[in-house]
Amino acid sequence: MKYSIQTLRQRKSDHSKFSVVAAYDASFTAAINQAEIEVILVGDSLGMVVQGQSSTVPVTIEQMVYHTEAVARGNACGASQALVIADMPFMSYANTEDALANAAKLMRAGANMVKLEGGAWLADTTAKLVECGIPVCAHIGLTPQSVNKLGGYKVQGRSDDQQQQLLNDAKALDKAGADFIVLECIPKSLAAEITQHTEFSTIGIGAGCDTDAQVLVCYDMLGLSSSPAKFVKNFLAEGEASQAPSIVNAFIAYKQAVENSSYPAPEHEYQ
Ligand code: KIV
Repeated sequence: MKYSIQTLRQRKSDHSKFSVVAAYDASFTAAINQAEIEVILVGDSLGMVVQGQSSTVPVTIEQMVYHTEAVARGNACGASQALVIADMPFMSYANTEDALANAAKLMRAGANMVKLEGGAWLADTTAKLVECGIPVCAHIGLTPQSVNKLGGYKVQGRSDDQQQQLLNDAKALDKAGADFIVLECIPKSLAAEITQHTEFSTIGIGAGCDTDAQVLVCYDMLGLSSSPAKFVKNFLAEGEASQAPSIVNAFIAYKQAVENSSYPAPEHEYQ
């Protein structure tokens, strides 16, 4: 099975949720494909979990190209092939010209879609990328590349004003032609409202169980994080009791839990 944007977007009206795993190399890609996970995100979280940086800010476009190529090579081998989204790193899309040039590098490296962090200010850039044939995944809420502006990794969208702003951002990016949007660390009720009032597919992380899809970083869901966030579940330790613990079975357990809405559970949500 080769997953496409068109079939995944159809899932919204079918109320059939899909799973995304952030991964950065060919071996994890092979395991993710064995579990038939629909989407791999080559996330700039690699700055923290692979490189040991304290944020995603130092990650460069060259590093994103390197990891996207590794994932794309692994993805070409399996019977199941995930859709590959690659993150545009910090300051690689500050204006539309840079965004087009850097997105082209990621697409040539094997990405099927690029992801950009930010709200309505990215609507024009999103529309231009889409016009040029580059599918876009938006990302609002906690946007880690802006950690210095946000003052830390904090839940976003708790005040009425912030909620209205995030809803407006989502609507502007939906209208601009983005196919997916990541909603990171926002209250469950706000994620549900955005999901209901937009046409693109919402992918939640710390955003409750009412989004169209979920995303987790592979190392987090396999228990390799020393201080996991509230929304993380260790699927290697707590996966299906009927299955032997293995990395592939952990990915299968995650996919099943997303499909049947048992993950995220109330203890993984923000109010
Ligand atoms: O970089 C990343 O892995 C991400 C996800 C956490 C959504 O952006």
